[in-house]
This record gives sequence, structure tokens and C-alpha cells, in this order.
Amino acid sequence: MNNSDRGSFSGKIAIVLATAGSAVGLGNVWRFPYMAGENGGATFIVIYFVCILLLGIPGMLSEFIVGRHGGSNAARSYDKMSKGGLWRLVGYLGILTSLIILGFYAVVAGWCLQYLFASIAGQLNGDAAYVKDYFATFSSDALRPVLWGVAFVVITHLVVVRGVRSGIERASKLLMPILLILLIVIVIASCMLPGAMEGVWFLLKPDFSKVTGRVMLDALGQAFFSLSLGTACLCTYASYYAKETNLLYAAGQIALLDTLIAILAGLMIFPAAASVGVNPDSGPSLIFITLPSVFQQAFAAMPLVGYVVGVMFYALLVFAALTSTISMHEIGTAFFTEELHLPRRRSAWVITIAASLICIFCSLSVGACDIQVMGMALLDFCDQLTANFMLPLGGMLTCLFVGWFVPKALVKDEFTNQGTLNHRFFELYLFAVRFVCPVCIVMIFLHQLGVI
Ligand code: TRP
Repeated sequence: MNNSDRGSFSGKIAIVLATAGSAVGLGNVWRFPYMAGENGGATFIVIYFVCILLLGIPGMLSEFIVGRHGGSNAARSYDKMSKGGLWRLVGYLGILTSLIILGFYAVVAGWCLQYLFASIAGQLNGDAAYVKDYFATFSSDALRPVLWGVAFVVITHLVVVRGVRSGIERASKLLMPILLILLIVIVIASCMLPGAMEGVWFLLKPDFSKVTGRVMLDALGQAFFSLSLGTACLCTYASYYAKETNLLYAAGQIALLDTLIAILAGLMIFPAAASVGVNPDSGPSLIFITLPSVFQQAFAAMPLVGYVVGVMFYALLVFAALTSTISMHEIGTAFFTEELHLPRRRSAWVITIAASLICIFCSLSVGACDIQVMGMALLDFCDQLTANFMLPLGGMLTCLFVGWFVPKALVKDEFTNQGTLNHRFFELYLFAVRFVCPVCIVMIFLHQLGVI
């Protein structure tokens, strides 16, 4: 299949927005606050910044380079750059990782759908204890969360089979700016709650005596998860990029926007949590047991405004999650379509069915059934396995590939768009992918295993 059959993104803005749509999602609004909360707040955030800058941006660039050069699905793109060989396994790893992520991510996205409908129906009003209880009751139901999760996978499926251009592009173009503005409004409201300052300090005052191997691994995993890095997702998206796209600029912009949204989400959650007495280390339920109180209490004098802000927020969160699940789905769908020559619709069904199965078991594992792997609920296990192991591994292999195995001239051609762009940062980039990324990731892994 040649490039023109695959479709491509229409303009410069659409490319950045669609990739940003993949990056911005529950990773920023749900996972970042809960990870920061469990790892001491500000300390975690500082390490997270370092990971984004030193490992995230070079990693993104590497996936962009492989993807745009290859112009096809993840596995074949690796093949094209390496002239055969085992590197296509990195593509396979990415496809598997993104499938697992899609499965458990849909569970949380399903919770967001439930909260959207509950907020429309006004069911989330009550004191802090009621809000906490609401989540516990809903998430342990045997059927409802499972249905919402599977519904989310099916919605993703429907968008994906409509093709890249019409589905992905249109959705991300419109909603991202609205989400940003709404977040800022909620941050202001949240910071004005009584006792909110304690939560702000939690985010701003690092305590470096609290840095452990665990904090570093979580920050690393979160950085990769949030940037959609390490599954060849960015590689698949970049295969639709135009030859003129400035890859460095795109990576920088997306990383900046993504980090900004995560920080805003933190500033939205922690002050409110401090104010209503929710512990920062409440885990995956953190945003669900905090947000309903914000919408009620911060807008107590104007209940209608609180209602509208709440409903809009959950709606946008659902859309942000959807632009992310679309990208996870697209990786596998593009692969099956191009490698196994299945019709696109059928490839999409393969992914949808597999992801739905993972979603069902993950959802049950935190609700009605006790499904545990290595002492964790299946959902937490999938989350930990992918974010803290598979993504950094995939990202590291991509960096090693581009840094050591692809001819330097070819990498430079992609980096500088055939020499038309400034190459001031090229050597720095090459140093990062050859040495900084692999060494840091291996050290964090070894430290976690207790070797160093
Ligand atoms: N980055 C997305 C988020 O923050 C999640 C995501 C989308 C993702 N595609 C991915 C994570 C591919 C890892 C790999 O919500």
C-alpha cells in the first residue's frame, strides 16, 4: 500500500493537534495526579520534568524519525530503516503494549463516561463521604463499569474505522483548546477553596530526601505514558506526517502542552483534596473522589455554573481519553491492515475484541472479582507492567536503534528535513539517544531490581 492510500494529515496545525490529542488524556488528568500523590508531590514533579527533557523529547524525536521515514505501520517502519533484521520486534512490542494499555485505559475512560452521565443527572451531589462512597459503590458493581469500559472501546473502534483524516483530526482540533481553558477555570476555583494552600505547597515544595528508586521509576514511567512514548504510537502517527514537518519543533510543542496540562490537573486536584480532606495518596480513585466536591463547593454560590462546569469537564475528559484511545487502536489496526492484508474494518475488530477482553478482566479486578497478579489487582498490574517496564524498554530500544544502528546521515536527513532545517541541536540529540537515554533507563531498571 503506498503512502497516498493511507491518507495523511491535512495541515501543520492538524498534525501537532492530533499527536497532542494522543498525548493529552487520562495520563495527564487521572494518572499524573495520582502518581504525584503517591510519590510525594513536588519531588516527583521535579524528577518528572527531568525525564521529559532528557529522555522524553529525544525519545519522541526518535519515534518521529523512524515513523516518517518508514511511512507505514510500526513494524515495517523499523524494517525499512534497518533493512530487515530483528528490529521489527520493537514494532511488535509496541503493538502489544498499546493493546494492553488500551484494555485498562478503557476501564478508567468508562468511569469517566459514567461520571459524565451521573453529573448530567445531578447524582454526584453530596458531602465528601457521599462522593467517596459513590465511587466505591459504582466501581465494585459487577456489570456497569464493565459495560462502560467495553462501550468505550467500541466508540474508539467506530472512530478508527472512519479513517485517519476525518476521525482523529476533527476531534482533536476543536476540543483541546476548550479543555485547556476549562482546566484553568477549575484550577482557579479549586485554589480558592478554604484550606487549599496546603495542596498547592504539596506541589511546589520538593523534599529531595524522599527520592527513592521507586519515585524515579514512577516518574520515568509516567513521562513515557503521558507522551504516548514507547509503543511506536508516535511512530505510527509520524508515518502520516508531511516531509516539511519540523520534528524537533513538534516534539517540543507537544511535550510542553502535555506537561502544562498535567501540572494544571495537579493544581486542580491537590488544593481541592486538601480542602475536602482527601488523602493525596488515594490511588487511582483520587480524581473521582475529589472532583465532584470541587464542582459543588467551589461554585456553591452559583450552583448552575458548577453544574455546567462539571458536565463540560467530564465531557471533555471523555474526548481527551478518546483521542488517546484512538491512537492506541490505530497502531494495531494499521499493522494488521498493512501486514496481514486484512480489510481495515476487520483489523479494527481484531483489536477491539482483544482490548475488550482485557478491559473486562481489568474492570472486574477492581470491582466484583478478586483477580490478582503478583499481589496487585489486574488493572494495577497492567498499568505498572506497561508504564514502568514495557514503555521505557520500547523507548530505549528505539533510541538505541536510531542512535547506533541507523546510518547517521539518514537520521540527520530526517532531523533536518533533507538539510533544509537548522541542525544546531543534532549532535546534542544524537548524544542523548546514544548515551543519556539508554544509560539512565538501564540504571533506573537496575536500581529497581536492587542490582545498584
Ligand atoms: N498519552 C496518553 C495519555 O496521557 C495515553 C496514550 C495514548 C499512550 N497513546 C499511548 C500511552 C501510547 C502509551 C502509549 O493519556
